[in-house]
Amino acid sequence: MSYVLLTGGAGYIGSHTALALLNANEQVISFDNYHNSSSESLKRVQQLSGRSLIDIQGDVLDSQALAQVFEQYPIKAVIHFAALKAVGESTAKPLWYYENNVTGTINLCKVMSQYGVKKLVFSSSATVYGAAEQMPIHESAPRSATNPYGQSKLMIEHILADLHSSDPDWKIAVLRYFNPVGADASGMIGENPNGIPNNLMPFITQVAVGKRDKLQVFGSDYPTADGTGVRDFIHVSDLARGHLAALGYLQQVQGIDYINLGTGQGYSVLDVIHSFSKVNQLDIPYVLTDRRPGDIAQCYADPSKAAQVLKWTTEKTLEDMVRDSWNWQKNNPNGYN
Ligand SMILES: NC(=O)c1ccc[n+]([C@@H]2O[C@H](COP(=O)([O-])OP(=O)(O)OC[C@H]3O[C@@H](n4cnc5c(N)ncnc54)[C@H](O)[C@@H]3O)[C@@H](O)[C@H]2O)c1
Repeated sequence: MSYVLLTGGAGYIGSHTALALLNANEQVISFDNYHNSSSESLKRVQQLSGRSLIDIQGDVLDSQALAQVFEQYPIKAVIHFAALKAVGESTAKPLWYYENNVTGTINLCKVMSQYGVKKLVFSSSATVYGAAEQMPIHESAPRSATNPYGQSKLMIEHILADLHSSDPDWKIAVLRYFNPVGADASGMIGENPNGIPNNLMPFITQVAVGKRDKLQVFGSDYPTADGTGVRDFIHVSDLARGHLAALGYLQQVQGIDYINLGTGQGYSVLDVIHSFSKVNQLDIPYVLTDRRPGDIAQCYADPSKAAQVLKWTTEKTLEDMVRDSWNWQKNNPNGYN
């Protein structure tokens, strides 16, 4: 029996991926320091799947704790989610972000090397495309970053490429997520942001549940159809399936490969608000305010490579995303607390 190790497995995308893996009969270990999560998400994942996983509290900055996991369990591949991810916070605390994300990844890869485990799926982000000029964004688009969070992802992409050049035994899938939203259809697991949400959907659901009185829409004068920013929202359950496909792809990938995970369809902030209101029969009060520094007008994926190499495409619609987000929030007004 061999395990798939998920660093950051208790987090938003990690917990949905853990569920998809258990449902596909994989053996799963989560290694998470619970900085931005709790073990409650994994308890629910086990309840939903009817299978158990190994839930370890640990920090990827702690090489000894990581090594212990590899010592104790046979691991066939690692999916590396563990990271800090708030763009604004990364600008205020860059050293923390670089240390956690970059040093954490270096530690992980060193320990993997030491134990001869050289299959890795890495959580990258569309943020590595910076302010891309051409839409949809293909994997070959130029990369740049405008904040320490994005820089940390870009640095890790470079580090992983160098690692593979130094040792061709490494097989690495770098997945560039677009904008994950939604929740498992059960409403039992979902996104549980600490403090003020950075992303649109948790903001909308917190307004809907009465935690905040209105939504701020940052920027209404972008060169888009309705003036608000356009993003490629992807349902987290589709994204989770993408990891399963990536694990399969690791068996055949030649070295390192970079793959967009998005739908290929851009929706504006107003599209999302209107869809949320219509599907859930709820009014979402909002105000149009100034653009947020660093935000771009539009960003959506060319998802054709994922279809070709992973044999994976998204299945869920915007309606599914807004319905499932609300189902999670209304059943869990305070998240996992
Ligand atoms: N959610 C998004 O919008 C988005 C978009 C693109 C990429 N990503 C990337 O996907 C990954 C998962 O994101 P998420 O949305 O699930 O975030 P999340 O915060 O819910 O999950 C990350 C998990 O990693 C854990 N963690 C952080 N630092 C750690 C450390 N040093 N040691 C052990 N565990 C640690 C946190 O406690 C958390 O459970 C991250 O790498 C993120 O950068 C997320």
